[in-house]
Amino acid sequence: MAMLEIDGVSKRYGGLQAVKDVTLRVGKGEIVSLIGPNGAGKTTLFNLITGFARPDSGRVRLEGEDVTGLSPEAVARHGMVRSFQITNVFANMPVIENLRLASYLRMRSPLLSDVFGLRSARDRAARTMKEANGILDLVGLARFRDTPAKRLAYGQLRLLEIAIALCVRPRLLLLDEPAAGLNSREGEKLTELLRRLRDGRGLTVLLVEHDMDLVMSVSDRVVVLNFGEKIAEGTPAEVKENPQVIEAYLGTPFEEEAA
Ligand SMILES: Nc1ncnc2c1ncn2[C@@H]1O[C@H](COP(=O)(O)OP(=O)(O)O)[C@@H](O)[C@H]1O
Ligand SMILES: [Mg+2]
Repeated sequence: MAMLEIDGVSKRYGGLQAVKDVTLRVGKGEIVSLIGPNGAGKTTLFNLITGFARPDSGRVRLEGEDVTGLSPEAVARHGMVRSFQITNVFANMPVIENLRLASYLRMRSPLLSDVFGLRSARDRAARTMKEANGILDLVGLARFRDTPAKRLAYGQLRLLEIAIALCVRPRLLLLDEPAAGLNSREGEKLTELLRRLRDGRGLTVLLVEHDMDLVMSVSDRVVVLNFGEKIAEGTPAEVKENPQVIEAYLGTPFEEEAA
């Protein structure tokens, strides 16, 4: 069974067909990238599958379970988690506390029992701390554990967003342009991290990304949108050679597009 199945999903805004009858599936443990020119409908499609917008038609299923039209919180509880935006990071809070808070978000009313110092709450707090430390190691931010988030460099902040998403224990992680604003070394680190998440944790990742170096080196499959429609799908090598894809990118070779 596929991790994610998107079946004939469409969304119109006024006179504009932002997403048109898009069907795609993401297998368990796959990294799939969604690419396409600006305005192609990539972010809209993300919004439709994560509950931030409702599709006009079509279905979204996570491991066979219909999650179409659920709220973002409900979708996240089903295990489909979108990397948080920078504005959701608490700037004055140390990195580790940001992660612990994210872990709490996935639990039911834990704060009240914490106040009463119940044993189960203490156990849970210890487990949460252990898990948060493990995630910090994984994303390479362990040495910034006690640093207030606002003192992190831009690239580190982007990693913190991913770490926060991981604290929610996703089955499917969605990342919208995670490499935006990263330098090439940071981009390579992100590539390594995505591979570690797939190969080490079996995580499934759906990614929107403009950085073609990253897309081509990390993706198992690439799906191309143009004017809201899926125009191509395949391995990175197949998609690169696809004439319709080359035309959608105005004939720009991919190497230049990434610059
Ligand atoms: N909430 C909205 N209201 C009206 N138009 C929107 C809205 N969201 C997106 N659009 C339009 O839908 C099209 C696709 O946008 P978007 O999904 O952001 O593209 P991409 O992420 O591929 O650059 C664009 O023309 C955009 O202006
Ligand atoms: Mg976008």
